[in-house]
Amino acid sequence: MASEDFAVEVDGVVKRFGSLHALAGVSLRIRQGEVYGLLGPNGAGKTTLIRSLVGLVKPEEGSVTVLNRRMPNLDVLAHVGYMTQQAALYPDLTVEENLRFFAAINGVHGGIREALEVVGLWDRRGSIVSSLSGGMRTRCSLACALVHKPELLLLDEPTVGVDPLLRMQLWDRFQKMAREGTTILVSSHVMDEAERCDRLGLIRFGRLLAEGTVAQLQARAGVNRLEDAFLKLSEASAA
Ligand SMILES: Nc1ncnc2c1ncn2[C@@H]1O[C@H](COP(=O)(O)OP(=O)(O)OP(=O)(O)O)[C@@H](O)[C@H]1O
Ligand SMILES: [Mg+2]
Repeated sequence: MASEDFAVEVDGVVKRFGSLHALAGVSLRIRQGEVYGLLGPNGAGKTTLIRSLVGLVKPEEGSVTVLNRRMPNLDVLAHVGYMTQQAALYPDLTVEENLRFFAAINGVHGGIREALEVVGLWDRRGSIVSSLSGGMRTRCSLACALVHKPELLLLDEPTVGVDPLLRMQLWDRFQKMAREGTTILVSSHVMDEAERCDRLGLIRFGRLLAEGTVAQLQARAGVNRLEDAFLKLSEASAA
């Protein structure tokens, strides 16, 4: 496959924090329009990997290419939506003002209503962010990542604290966006969400243990449940 078909190309990335290898040589490729799930326990390196994709983490080794540009590259960021694990919103502004801000820094002015409707917050657009519930704040943060209709969407545990019904609706939406060409990288611990991804990468101790569809990973581990596949593949790589 030609390189331009990949939205993300990570090659041999190493990132250390002191003696700790947060990323110990990670390589992966994500196709355009693919929903790629990054699955792994706390401290596995998911956030560090996502941060390396936007240039917030500078790897000691390896290379990161996003939308065919070698990172870090500020111009690429206008085409990337990044929902951080900790909601990065202005607490004293309203929901709508936050959306306007994130739209403006990415050079767009429309799309605010649509983004807020996706996350079910249009009727709360006048609320001050600090007065929202935790799940609503997460949803607002997701709307901010979507508002400029990015080509690549990086979602770091986007559905934590979101109620089950909306979680389902959000996943429907992610899949629809992918069908329309948006590439989505989503990190999660939730195995039922993993089933909604086109492909998964299992990550632990800064290493990619295995990659594939749910069915491929289950077959490789010889088990029927994704949880069991994860455990088996973790044990196999530790041995
Ligand atoms: N800025 C930093 N300084 C020092 N250590 C860091 C820093 N950022 C991450 N780490 C360490 O790197 C490792 C990977 O962290 P990371 O946040 O990438 O994990 P994660 O997979 O996102 O975990 P979680 O599921 O808890 O969000 C952890 O051991 C963490 O303590
Ligand atoms: Mg994290």
